[in-house]
Amino acid sequence: MKKLRIDKMLGHLGYGTRKEIKQYAKQGMIAVNGEMVKNASAKVDVEKDVVTFVGEEVHYREFVYILLNKPAGVISATEDHVERTVIDLLDDELRHFEPFPVGRLDKDTVGFLLLTNDGQLAHRLLTPKNDVPKTYFARIDQAVTVADVAAFKEGVTLDDGYETKPAKLELTERPDEIFVTITEGKFHQVKRMFRAVEKEVVYLKRCSMGPLELDEHLREGEYRELTEEEVEALQNYR
Ligand code: URA
Repeated sequence: MKKLRIDKMLGHLGYGTRKEIKQYAKQGMIAVNGEMVKNASAKVDVEKDVVTFVGEEVHYREFVYILLNKPAGVISATEDHVERTVIDLLDDELRHFEPFPVGRLDKDTVGFLLLTNDGQLAHRLLTPKNDVPKTYFARIDQAVTVADVAAFKEGVTLDDGYETKPAKLELTERPDEIFVTITEGKFHQVKRMFRAVEKEVVYLKRCSMGPLELDEHLREGEYRELTEEEVEALQNYR
């Protein structure tokens, strides 16, 4: 049971300020289990009670989990004075929850990006000790070789001397297109790993993170909230 004052509950969801919500209640715009409630400081059980605002059911949630197919040209930050951010792509209702990107994709990288306001979950997915795999599709400026596959399997040395953990390279029918799976998230990691074998990444798309894959129904720039099953899969992961 999770009890919350009506004004707090509706306030969290962006229905207005406490003062505004008090007025809405007075005007008879709010009902709980079908009964009009004139006092906005009354408490409701957000899991059981059915709250309606002008007849529309209110879906309370504390956390949001959003899967965005990130387009190129936006940065993985919550705000920026110059660049467009991934948060700018969201509608007002979701922005109200103050989600942030779980990890970063470069401005020119596209694909799977999780956004949430659940700090604990984000931490679990990002902490290096959990080795959460992330798979990318990449196009390279030249053919990828079996020697590269072997080098990635051992781990490569980046430009700053850092030895990466082992990474898996999967070749495809095209010699210059591969899937790469890494379990770390160093700055520009995939691009720098290829530079370590004297190659350049010319296109990069993240396809999956942990138990979840990019939803191919989402076009670049589109997003959707995760289903309950998907949230559970993330929560039970590692
Ligand atoms: N590795 C990169 O080089 N860039 C990304 O955006 C993600 C992983």
